[in-house]
Amino acid sequence: MCGIIGILGLTPVAPLLVDGLKRLEYRGYDSAGIAVLEEGHLDRLRAEGKLRNLEAKLRANRKTGRSGIGHTRWATHGAPTERNAHPHATERVAVVHNGIIENFRELRLEMEAAGRVFSSDTDTEVVAHLVTLGLIDGLSPKEAVQATLKRLTGAFALAFLFEGEDDLVIGARRGSPLAIGWGSGEMFLGSDAIALGPFTDEITYLEDGDSVVLTRAGATIFDADDVEIARTPTTTAGSTYIADKGNHRHFMVKEIHEQPEVVGRTLGHYLDLVASAAKAVDDIDFSRIDRLSITACGTAYYAGFVAKYWFERIARLPVDIDIASEFRYREQPLSKDGLSIVISQSGETADTLASLRYAKGQGQRIAAIVNVRESTIAREADVMLPILAGPEIGVASTKAFTAQLAVLAAVAIAAGRARGTIDAAEEALLVRSFSEVPRLMHEALRLEGQIEALARDLAKVKHCLYLGRGTSYPIALEGALKLKEISYIHAEGYAAGELKHGPIALIDEEMPVVVIAPYDRVFEKTVSNMQEVAARGGRIILITDRKGSEAAAIDAVETLILPEMPAAVTPLVYAIPVQLLAYHTAVFMGTDVDQPRNLAKSVTVE
Ligand code: F6R
Repeated sequence: MCGIIGILGLTPVAPLLVDGLKRLEYRGYDSAGIAVLEEGHLDRLRAEGKLRNLEAKLRANRKTGRSGIGHTRWATHGAPTERNAHPHATERVAVVHNGIIENFRELRLEMEAAGRVFSSDTDTEVVAHLVTLGLIDGLSPKEAVQATLKRLTGAFALAFLFEGEDDLVIGARRGSPLAIGWGSGEMFLGSDAIALGPFTDEITYLEDGDSVVLTRAGATIFDADDVEIARTPTTTAGSTYIADKGNHRHFMVKEIHEQPEVVGRTLGHYLDLVASAAKAVDDIDFSRIDRLSITACGTAYYAGFVAKYWFERIARLPVDIDIASEFRYREQPLSKDGLSIVISQSGETADTLASLRYAKGQGQRIAAIVNVRESTIAREADVMLPILAGPEIGVASTKAFTAQLAVLAAVAIAAGRARGTIDAAEEALLVRSFSEVPRLMHEALRLEGQIEALARDLAKVKHCLYLGRGTSYPIALEGALKLKEISYIHAEGYAAGELKHGPIALIDEEMPVVVIAPYDRVFEKTVSNMQEVAARGGRIILITDRKGSEAAAIDAVETLILPEMPAAVTPLVYAIPVQLLAYHTAVFMGTDVDQPRNLAKSVTVE
């Protein structure tokens, strides 16, 4: 993952680099560093841990250089120490890198045999040495970079700063994103538009294989064949965004509370609430589609998993749902009349992007459900369906999940209408049901006090199970994922009916079991599974509605009661208590909720 930035400025760039890095910290926060040219000489400052450590060092060690590059790291090769922090540098060049150089071992042996001495355990440092050898051989910086790129396999975005070259930054991308920011007498390079936000809103996204030579006068772009090429700049909206927690303690809880508004906005975009109808999805004719494949990672995958139930039930459309890292290598045949839906908040997830490209290669049309509209996935899809959630800063996804669900629900209804599997009355009923979701979400948020009390106890356990059936099964998976990623408590989600096939062996007095069971057509089945847990002394937290709580009638169950609602909308509303439960448990445990250990918001490596 990692975030990179480069600036050719008119004033000292160190504070600007840090500003950009702050906006990139979501891509990784194991260590950070900058390199600037101080009177023509490369000068680095790096620090282990969060960006604030680098800021503290900078306060004690001011830099005045007007050209620089910076990096925030999510460790792949080499521990997250200062020694492994970027930029990596030699006497001639400094480099920052996002991605993985797969052939770094053989290159490192070759460089060491040529007398180069390495000072880190990273895959990146070979890049600095390769460029340096090119420069020593008399190549120009651009030629040395081009020669180096030819030697690298893997995925990367790179930015280079050269000793003695105050008006030069070179960038290159293969696989990982990189964008140019246009200023007036200043130029910028960054992993995304968010990083470049404080400086400019005029952005050019580099295409895969591109490299760029930046001077203060502008940018010259070269394609994968090293031929100069023009790429059109765009004006980006993301740039005006300022991260602000408002009155909340963490971004995550702010984003949880934003959901009624976000989902209302998204539903309003895709549904005609006045006519009680779904808006047609431009450029997709669902009446001609015979199969849907949905691919995503993590939380976005669980959104797709919920949608499988909706598409199959509402539109009678068979759906294959896949984790992107599996899908991309499975080589399954895809029907030419099929549609591939990829879901990604960031729009940059490497496995999801590779799945998109695989499906495209098989002749499928691609619809991408994304939050970041300028992202690579958004740009490579045939149809882009934005979730309109606004920037999500908390690493654990919350509002993007429910906004993804909102888009998927609306598309499933539109598909049902196009395929004639629902009539106008059924469509109107569904649309009216979904239009109630923001109100129902507000009601769900009112349970926060009760959830906080439950979380106090949950924070003491080591393991936790989540159970659900139907669309509550993916919500159970999502609940378990939320808990483990921010509280570090081991949690697993299971289809409730699967419990007896193995996981029930785990049940004892020490094992809390969160059961997600709205009073729907599978409720009684879930209650039977809950009885099996209760009979073995398991501690149950039941999330249901009033009818469900009356019908369950099991002693020693702690119950969270949501309003009654149509079955189709429950995933959107039941997501809220599982998010809040994870959040408050993590707060009691004292973890870094917004930036949990080992994670990053944008996963641009395999
Ligand atoms: C979990 C979480 C991750 C992401 C996953 C995919 O809270 O956020 O599981 O959902 O890494 O990321 P995107 O949606 O950016 O492709």
